[in-house]
Amino acid sequence: MPTDDAVFETHLPLRGRRQGKVREVYDLAPDAQGPRLLLVASDRVSAFDVVMPTAIPGKGRLLTAIASGWFEFLRGQSLVKDHLLSTDVEQISGIDEPTRAALRGRSMICRAAQVVPIECVARGYLAGSGWNEYQASATVCGVKLPAGLRQCERLPEPIFTPATKAAHGHDENVSFEQASASVGQSLMARLREITLRTYTVAAAHALERGVILADTKFEFGFALDRSGSPTEELILVDEVLTPDSSRYWPVAGYAPGGDQPSFDKQFLRNWLVTLVESGAWDKNAPGPEVPAEIVSGTRARYEEAYERLFAK
Ligand SMILES: Nc1ncnc2c1ncn2[C@@H]1O[C@H](COP(=O)(O)OP(=O)(O)O)[C@@H](O)[C@H]1O
Ligand SMILES: [Mg+2]
Repeated sequence: MPTDDAVFETHLPLRGRRQGKVREVYDLAPDAQGPRLLLVASDRVSAFDVVMPTAIPGKGRLLTAIASGWFEFLRGQSLVKDHLLSTDVEQISGIDEPTRAALRGRSMICRAAQVVPIECVARGYLAGSGWNEYQASATVCGVKLPAGLRQCERLPEPIFTPATKAAHGHDENVSFEQASASVGQSLMARLREITLRTYTVAAAHALERGVILADTKFEFGFALDRSGSPTEELILVDEVLTPDSSRYWPVAGYAPGGDQPSFDKQFLRNWLVTLVESGAWDKNAPGPEVPAEIVSGTRARYEEAYERLFAK
């Protein structure tokens, strides 16, 4: 049985290790289609693009369970292909049994892709950076919205608000035109369509389970062929629809006109904001140690998201 020991980071004896904020990525031997990757979800948590020094034990497993649940759900919708091949750690060779046990439940074996350097954000509600921009200009990423909307209010229809995928530093909201200038307009039109349709079916599923999917971020890529070159095949990559990439609010008690309680990182962000306001942290790395009650509260919210969305 996998232990619930926190996994802050991994150093597996596999090639090509690179480290993101939350996951490590390794190269695996290719299959008949092309190169494969291992994505390992650690128990790290990031907020404001800064990784906290404190792990949230079990978070990587919850994240993987939620993403896998959504991949399965989305496959039933046939909107887009995805990169997930397996979550079965028996398929990983070159590691010992204790390592395999530690990876169980937090691993995704995926098709490697050339990732499109645009974060594809869909928003159905007015929150976060969208709410900030709306207050200043009645737009979100250049999309004009009706006047008089309140914080966290449902939008007349979901909107597509791309952001640049910064290698370092903060992702930045961009207009559809700016994103098109960087990766091409026909690709952006496809990404917008897939993003909004995927958001819409996922939000409907979540709502049936008593959860509002306020917004979410997808990443897409072009699957690589056996020689490692990108093909024309556009696939959904990365994690999908997790509390790391999405805002989830309970339907019960939803009340626009203020912040909402959530099953995502907002709980941690709110605590961090109190530190920023008191001058104890400036939103730059390193992040502060997270106290036990914020760790357990964050974990409980990820658990709640999983239970609500996918528990039978
Ligand atoms: N199928 C894939 N092919 C190539 N790269 C991928 C694929 N799926 C996800 N990635 C990349 O793997 C990384 C996952 O690590 P993560 O901790 O999320 O990093 P980040 O700090 O960039 O968010 C991301 O950079 C993501 O773009
Ligand atoms: Mg990421």
